[in-house]
Amino acid sequence: MYDYGQYGSELKKNIRDYWWESMTRLHDNIVGIDAAIFMHPTTWKASGHVDNFSDPMIDNKDSQKRYRVDHLIETYADELEAMGKKEEADTLLSAMDRLLAASDFEGLKKLIEDNKIKCGMSGTANWSDVRQFNLMFSTQLGSVTDETNEIWLRPETAQGIFVNFQNVQKTGRMKVPFGIAQVGKAFRNEIVARQFIFRMREFEQMEMQYFIKPGTQKEWYEYWKHDRMQWHLSLGISSDKFRFHDHVKLAHYADAATDIEFEFPMGFKEVEGIQSRTDFDLKNHQEYSRKKLTYFDTELNQHYLPYVIETSIGLDRTVLMILSEAYLEEDLSTAEKKDSRVVLKFPSKLAPVKLAILPLIKKDGLPEIAREILGSCRAHFRCFYEEKDTIGKRYRRMDAIGTPFCVTVDHQSLEDQTATIRYRDSMQQERIPISRIREIVEKEIF
Ligand code: GAP
Repeated sequence: MYDYGQYGSELKKNIRDYWWESMTRLHDNIVGIDAAIFMHPTTWKASGHVDNFSDPMIDNKDSQKRYRVDHLIETYADELEAMGKKEEADTLLSAMDRLLAASDFEGLKKLIEDNKIKCGMSGTANWSDVRQFNLMFSTQLGSVTDETNEIWLRPETAQGIFVNFQNVQKTGRMKVPFGIAQVGKAFRNEIVARQFIFRMREFEQMEMQYFIKPGTQKEWYEYWKHDRMQWHLSLGISSDKFRFHDHVKLAHYADAATDIEFEFPMGFKEVEGIQSRTDFDLKNHQEYSRKKLTYFDTELNQHYLPYVIETSIGLDRTVLMILSEAYLEEDLSTAEKKDSRVVLKFPSKLAPVKLAILPLIKKDGLPEIAREILGSCRAHFRCFYEEKDTIGKRYRRMDAIGTPFCVTVDHQSLEDQTATIRYRDSMQQERIPISRIREIVEKEIF
């Protein structure tokens, strides 16, 4: 679990808003909802999470450390490969895949023991049996503690969309194809939560379910693959930092699935998943709720259960992607002087602060002019006002939080109503009329 501070939460909000607006405003037929985190427990039976959302785990009896079986074996296979034993590693991994697919837990334990895989903490191979471990967090509804009151914290936001499919369709008179988007917290009892905000137990998802006519799933899947990649590229990140990872082994409910992977400092990893989920979810909710969820297609004069294409992106993971891409240590040394700066080259539309307003000194009427600029801009975008320290130090502080524009008010401003604007990335400065500041910044941030 991580807390975001004042700039992190602004960055996160800007990414969330950018996703929300591009989904709900730039598509005619996608609307947003805000469903509850606690849902009827049967929801998670219907979705398959109660029975299937689990990983085989093994405990080391000496250190008490719990491992995901696949992670433990994969880490050992990596070590074998690093020692030049690639063939041995491949054999091990294919044996693991076979046993996992067959849910052969005894076989998995034997594989770990036969290969003498040890716990990284205790250094022993004293292993428990392999057991399934459900990743959902549970809690009690109401004051009486008994099993019937057990409810789950949602492990994905998607099910809140499925159970609201008919409400949204009927009240909004939506016609297939249409989409429902949602942003919200999800909770998973990840055993190995690691790599900073990449994998967390409490995180935020931005998901969209697109309801379509059965039989059109191939074309809509391709449409959303393209659309979502364009969204990532619109953040100014070069295309060689992304790749698709198409799933070969598909979940039982999917007929196609891919991940959009970004090249993080620790390698290419998933940021977003796109899945063609057939009518699996609606069919199960219909069965478990005993309520018809079919849609009447007036053009075809036919009732059917829509198929679904899902796009699902982790908000925190996107924050990490934007941070990794933006962070730069620049060497600014000249022959005369050593110099460097840390800068976050955020896309202007995502930067936590858009404009810093800096009077050169704290007197001679300069703060008054600077405060007037602040007054004319603060209702339109986030500004930061600062009088303290030299102008060079103030610029560097703004570079470090990724502020794309700084304006400095000096004595010339008193005479000709101009100020100096400084651009974060090029560090170029130019003199502009104060009356144009808002327009220049707004042009870059929307
Ligand atoms: N409804 C589909 C679904 O939940 P998923 O691949 O499990 O699919 C979708 O999750 C996205 O949510 C991932 O691509 C990732 O960005 C994010 N995500 C999943 N688990 C996460 C975790 N433990 N911490 C942070 N982000 C996570």
